[in-house]
Amino acid sequence: MPIVTWSEDLSVKIKELDAQHQELVAMINKMHDAMKQGKGKEVLGSIIDKMVEYTHKHFLSEEQLFSKHNYPEAGRHSREHNDFVGKVAKFQRDLKAGNITLTMDVITFLKEWLVTHIKGTDKKYTPFLNAKGVV
Ligand SMILES: [Fe+2]
Ligand SMILES: [Fe+2]
Repeated sequence: MPIVTWSEDLSVKIKELDAQHQELVAMINKMHDAMKQGKGKEVLGSIIDKMVEYTHKHFLSEEQLFSKHNYPEAGRHSREHNDFVGKVAKFQRDLKAGNITLTMDVITFLKEWLVTHIKGTDKKYTPFLNAKGVV
């Protein structure tokens, strides 16, 4: 069973960004499944690597739209992204070094961060970007 499901209440009303959020949701569920199935360090490591890579791509997509349209909240928003990148990079390093194992706590953190960020921070750009014709 997925631990997080994308639904309309997570929609930011911009097709490309909704698709990216759906992909991130899918990645968190994949990580959860792999953990439950007791998959080894290699498998979990490669899922985290893919998620880190995809997160970079997604944040860049949002930040490029912010610059292009002079979104006034860009600075604050990007700081939340950077903070998350830092935290996930630390998980990635610790997992590789064998200092931590992928636990429910880590997955719950990722899930909570994503949902809270989309609902609280991403959704703020919807009216601004929609008004600029970004849909
Ligand atoms: Fe986002
Ligand atoms: Fe964002």
